[in-house]
Amino acid sequence: MEIKKLKLTNFRNYNSLTVEFSPFINFISGDNGEGKTNILEAISILSLGKSFVTSQEINCIKIQEEYAYIEAEINSDKVKKINFVISPLGKKVTLNGKEIKRISELSSKCLTVTFSPKDVRIFKDSPLERRKFINLSLSMLSKTYMNLLKQYNEFIKKRNLLLKQEIDWLYILTLDEQIAPLSYEIVKIRTEFMKNLEMKVKQIYKYFALDESEISLYYKTFIPFESEKKEYVKKFLEIIKQNYESDLKRKSSSKGIHYDDFTFLLNGNDISIIGSQGQNRIASLALKLGLASLVENISNDKPILLLDDVLSELDDYHQQKLVEILKNLGQIFISGNEVNKTFENCVEYKVSNHEVRRITKNG
Ligand SMILES: Nc1ncnc2c1ncn2[C@@H]1O[C@H](COP(=O)(O)OP(=O)(O)O)[C@@H](O)[C@H]1O
Ligand SMILES: [Mg+2]
Repeated sequence: MEIKKLKLTNFRNYNSLTVEFSPFINFISGDNGEGKTNILEAISILSLGKSFVTSQEINCIKIQEEYAYIEAEINSDKVKKINFVISPLGKKVTLNGKEIKRISELSSKCLTVTFSPKDVRIFKDSPLERRKFINLSLSMLSKTYMNLLKQYNEFIKKRNLLLKQEIDWLYILTLDEQIAPLSYEIVKIRTEFMKNLEMKVKQIYKYFALDESEISLYYKTFIPFESEKKEYVKKFLEIIKQNYESDLKRKSSSKGIHYDDFTFLLNGNDISIIGSQGQNRIASLALKLGLASLVENISNDKPILLLDDVLSELDDYHQQKLVEILKNLGQIFISGNEVNKTFENCVEYKVSNHEVRRITKNG
């Protein structure tokens, strides 16, 4: 899948911008603050309905303007055109000219995987960031997962409300009997996802790493997935019951799959504790490239890769390794101050003065 043409109106520092892109590697060059990340951000919004820069997309509206508008022509079986409006009233999306009811309908249409410098901290960040990674990735890959998670979140909201009202335990138990099998289904999908992702990440980490360390992925969930649903539900209800008193005190649900987490192990030790900066960098890149490869396997379509400022994170050796691996991936947007020798065969788009110019080589 590729973005053929992108149009931005009142988006961040762009008044009005139209650019046609290459289906291969697009190198977005320019000085700091010119608007390189803004272009990648617009593409990520088209894909997930969410920005990887801000949690409030309203910040993308150009200062003193009333709305921001993103439009893209896409080369894919699923969608040809996406229009996205961000205004103080909310977000409005049309796919092939037809408005969609929920933003979540977007996420399986235009698939993207983003790597930005803040991802380097993913293993050291709070578990919330890693849960976001799991949920966003799976929301691209499985409609079933999205629906299950939505139901689960509604149940937990209701449970917390009941805890605040100091309601009789029996009411909560009825709720827990519904939450238990739902948790099983979600953990089943997460476990499968983690297993497949681990295989990809292992390969990619090995490819990049200069040392011999073995990487593995450790999925943390309060009851490890058991193939027997009955067994899982039984254990679930036991643990939840043990926590009822403390839940009542805290007035919130202290145990459950909403606290799931994962980490990478380097030779069996948690990378967030023992990993060097370099190992964290390569591992986080392997995580995202591994996801891209997994998305391709599952959806039968190459996702668009958004690599923001990745080169500043890599030395020459790793840049060379990266460019080799990118050749096998689909459309790529990579931002950086300038195109160096390693990336000289990419199509360059130079950003300056709120404009984007395609640089034609050899005159
Ligand atoms: N809502 C906005 N309205 C106008 N300009 C904005 C807005 N948000 C960010 N900017 C401008 O966008 C520029 C930063 O763009 P960015 O894409 O992050 O640059 P870089 O090229 O370094 O990646 C800054 O000049 C900033 O002032
Ligand atoms: Mg930037």
